[in-house]
Amino acid sequence: MKNYQIETILSTNRKPKPDSAHLEFGRTFTDHMFIMDYTEGTGWHDPRIIPYQPISLDPSSMVFHYGQTVFEGLKAYLSEDGKVFLFRPDRNFNRLNHSNARLCIPQIDEELALEALKQLILVDRDWIPQAEGTSLYIRPFIISTEPHLGVAPSENYQFIIIMSPVGSYYKEGIHPVKIAVEQQYVRAVAGGTGEAKTGGNYSSSLKAQEVAEKVGYSQVLWLDGRENKYVEEVGSMNIFFKINGQVVTPALNGSILAGITRDSIIQLLKHWNVPVVERRISIDEIYQAYKDGVLEEAFGTGTAAVISPIGELLWKYEKLVVNSGEIGKLTQELYDTLTGIQNGTKPDPFGWRI
Ligand code: COI
Repeated sequence: MKNYQIETILSTNRKPKPDSAHLEFGRTFTDHMFIMDYTEGTGWHDPRIIPYQPISLDPSSMVFHYGQTVFEGLKAYLSEDGKVFLFRPDRNFNRLNHSNARLCIPQIDEELALEALKQLILVDRDWIPQAEGTSLYIRPFIISTEPHLGVAPSENYQFIIIMSPVGSYYKEGIHPVKIAVEQQYVRAVAGGTGEAKTGGNYSSSLKAQEVAEKVGYSQVLWLDGRENKYVEEVGSMNIFFKINGQVVTPALNGSILAGITRDSIIQLLKHWNVPVVERRISIDEIYQAYKDGVLEEAFGTGTAAVISPIGELLWKYEKLVVNSGEIGKLTQELYDTLTGIQNGTKPDPFGWRI
């Protein structure tokens, strides 16, 4: 590995740590952050760890106007015997570069990013919560900072990593959620930015979520943007169904995010010899499976919540209750195993934990 020079300036004003029993997702941040700049002609430069602080940007910075930005999400865990674990972090920095390519943002050195993250975690190690279900959520992101209102790729960027001690993504912990199948709005279209992790995909999803919440549903299930027929994602997560003993998840088609939790679940199921397929799956097929009594389980997957069981789907005014609204057996096993691998309480036959 190359010898990266990452300057570190330590904070002289350490903040009090939050109570790990009452951690809210993404509300408090550690004492330090990583930052590096990009200048056209020079490339990425000045990687440094500095005290966590506001950043100052020109109001004309391109990110504010055209949303040229990408982000990632991953977690660090502290084991009972004091070891720090990251879960497949190389995949996150690799995906960040895929998102960069789609958003015309210059590629980062993935090895440098990982090294920077490891050094940042060492500096803020005592911010990693240890209570069950808690972790340190890591948010790497890139913003376009050139002060210019022309619609073109920016000539300047900042790559930043911030970190936040978190509890469960949902205040109530893992529990089945009610999901409304979205018929008016779409999240992404093939050829769009759906497979990139960019802010616009999330801001454009808010309206549908707001409407769903008003009628008592926590998230929406997104259908494809062309025919409004095929299942894509749920909220900001990938989706899985267990139908008649077989696990099915929508195949990556250009508008679905290639989730790292999604990939881990598929590998785990294959390891257990549970039949799992990635293919196109229509909402009509889900409805038929429900009518036939073979829609056994459904759940979303993502870094933040890991696994989120689905207890009910609202489809054209009909409530499809999944597994009597309870957490499915396989869903629970997947959650327990994956979180156990992540936090070091279960063996990791895949070498995912570093
Ligand atoms: C995740 O599930 O990790 C997400 O992408 C949601 C995040 C934007 C909070």
